[in-house]
Amino acid sequence: MEIKNVVVIGSGTMGSGIAAQICNANIPVTLLDLTSEISQKAKERIFKSRPPLLIDKSKIDNIKIGNINDNFDVVRKADWIVEAVVERIDIKHNIYEKIFKNRKDGAIVSSNTSSIPIKILSQNLTIEEKKDFCITHFFNPVRYMDLLEIVKSENNDLDKINSLKSFCEKDLGKGTLICNDTPGFLGNRVGVYAMQVAMTEAFKMQLSIEEADAIFGRPMGIPKTGVFGLYDLIGIDLMADVLKSFVKELPENDEFQKVAKEIPLVKKLIETGYTGRKGKGGFYRMNKNNNKKILESINLETGEYSLSKKFNIGSEKMDIVNLINRKDKYGKYAWSVISKIIKYASSLVPGITDKFNDIDEAMRLGFNWTKGPFEILKEIGVNNFFQKIENFENNNFLENLSKTKDENFYGERQLYTQLETLGKIKPKAIKLDKNNSAETYRFDGFNIVEFTTKANALDYESMDSLKNATDKPLIIINEAMQFSAGVNLSYTMNFAEKRDFKAIEKFVKYFQETCKHLKYSRYPVVSAPSGLALGGGFEVLCQSNFVVSHTNIVVGLVETLVGLIPAGGGCKEMLLRWSKTDEAKNDPDYAPLKVFDIIGYAKTATSPKEAEPLKYLKPEDKKIMSRNSLLPVSKKIIEDEKNFKPPEECKFNFSGKVVYEKMIKMLEKLYNDKIILDHGMAVGKELAYVLSGGDTTVDKTLSEDQLYQLELDAFMKLIQTKKTQDRITHTLATGKPLVN
Ligand code: NAI
Repeated sequence: MEIKNVVVIGSGTMGSGIAAQICNANIPVTLLDLTSEISQKAKERIFKSRPPLLIDKSKIDNIKIGNINDNFDVVRKADWIVEAVVERIDIKHNIYEKIFKNRKDGAIVSSNTSSIPIKILSQNLTIEEKKDFCITHFFNPVRYMDLLEIVKSENNDLDKINSLKSFCEKDLGKGTLICNDTPGFLGNRVGVYAMQVAMTEAFKMQLSIEEADAIFGRPMGIPKTGVFGLYDLIGIDLMADVLKSFVKELPENDEFQKVAKEIPLVKKLIETGYTGRKGKGGFYRMNKNNNKKILESINLETGEYSLSKKFNIGSEKMDIVNLINRKDKYGKYAWSVISKIIKYASSLVPGITDKFNDIDEAMRLGFNWTKGPFEILKEIGVNNFFQKIENFENNNFLENLSKTKDENFYGERQLYTQLETLGKIKPKAIKLDKNNSAETYRFDGFNIVEFTTKANALDYESMDSLKNATDKPLIIINEAMQFSAGVNLSYTMNFAEKRDFKAIEKFVKYFQETCKHLKYSRYPVVSAPSGLALGGGFEVLCQSNFVVSHTNIVVGLVETLVGLIPAGGGCKEMLLRWSKTDEAKNDPDYAPLKVFDIIGYAKTATSPKEAEPLKYLKPEDKKIMSRNSLLPVSKKIIEDEKNFKPPEECKFNFSGKVVYEKMIKMLEKLYNDKIILDHGMAVGKELAYVLSGGDTTVDKTLSEDQLYQLELDAFMKLIQTKKTQDRITHTLATGKPLVN
């Protein structure tokens, strides 16, 4: 079965997200709603969405729109019809009746329902129709959430389900799990339970919401939004609806019922319009004090808001074993939450799935957890877990495990995909090295470096790992969300605060040396980014010999925002890329001015399509929809590059003062128009000096090392200024740039 034409019915949040992702896969799609005005508005929303749902906005017209009365004919041509209308069974049934009257023979029909069982959805269909009907449960936002659950019934044609799965994996880039028809399927059943446990235990143990979020967050391998932050993000009212549907669908003795009871404070928040970020606020809210925005948090006991106080648990990395061993209330909270989640998830095997592995993957793909409950159990250690746990009645999985005490119960990872993913090969690979910032593996004659810090920020040890791993072909890739958000600013600020600028200089030099080494070493180096590849992260990427990029990347040189300039070869590499253009052949100032514009404004691209015109990516770089394919495609490059020869060192000719003055004129205009302030001017001047080639003329040839030196000098000057340090401190505290 080939899918060449799709119709999506219902153009709300989910329908428009699904249509956009189908458009991203270059497949024509029609979006139908009650009226064409509604679907036209949806199309406009897709176009304007931030972060963008479209990889390439110029393809927007591949999404056609219409209404279900005048344009239903389009269904006749579709190979796949996705229903994503409101969660009302009567409406859904009416639509199916119409679809099955019109669809072409054998076309797949699916629902995006989050809570209605397939049995009920398909109750009016004939056996023949049921063969082609399933649930395709996407997560919001569709482009960015990797999980797709396909729920099948016993009537399905399995070949068809498998070919739909393979289409969704390959063309739509989704991690696709096949699930049974049970309430909430895999992801929400365990994910929402986990949120509810984290919330109810925080109430019980009288933790502040900041404390709960700090624990049920990074140290447990869970995104930093934690539980209350996530509640606000999803919408407190929406969560209440989700819970109601679980309460209705699940048996009374299901453990979920215990944590799904209505909480008076939550009820009050919804009633008073505190539905989360989309409303007046939620557990957290923004308030104004003396005209300054401040973040406030709710007191779970009193319901009063006060200034939010960040709580630091002392570990930014996943550290579950130490966390649950703490003797304080935080350790108790962590253990209580995680042990309940493990107990609940394991009690669902084999009822909701016979592959516990799929539950872990659902948590990883749908909730961005680093590890699922079963992997966390493995990390805690089977013996350790059973020493700590008090009871686990009616749980066959744990009863069996308590008898075998098999520490290796887990077996392989990511069973849902045939692809040779990083997650699959890591357990089989030889671990060559591990430091505080990265891990190095050897597999099939090549090396892999995976960064392991918060947002994969880079420091001296990350560079060490890269440098040491070039004794074989190297792939730089990771399982975490970000490839790298750039150089670790707190690491740099620690030295700056101690006025140990020598240490910073040593680090930047080592960064440059490592990147140069990546580019010119004997064996090919492939970077396979996904998520953020900013600043230093981009410098690693752009000095690798090959790039295999996921389509969901955010890439760019953003150093000027924190009062610095790229100094790991970013300026040099961008100059090189722009110097190779036809325009640059006739005009020595073309490349410096282009790069000045790009780095000066800290331009970023949110897809490979946007990255190419800026030359953050090259046309020959591979662009891949499916994250799971990054490693196989990188590996193929290495296999094809048996006769790899590193590139020749490059040379530059710039006009020095001539182009520098052009840049200064541009800065002066921005300064006079008050678009930049004093320090913006100072940073701009340093950048201008580097990009113009410094003290040079067009007939002098500059080497890469000379450009590295210019970058280093400018960086060292800036890092020693108070205003750059102010910018860094501000960004570290708020995540936002400071204009000074
Ligand atoms: P929504 O309320 O944003 O959009 C629903 C759309 O359906 C509206 O544009 C509405 O005009 C349209 N509609 C209503 N009756 C229709 C009819 N008879 N014919 C054609 N269009 C009709 O809803 P949302 O959030 O997009 O949800 C859609 C489905 O996806 C629901 O089944 C929901 O349970 C499910 N879902 C929602 C998720 C979310 O995060 N919002 C996540 C996963 C699943």
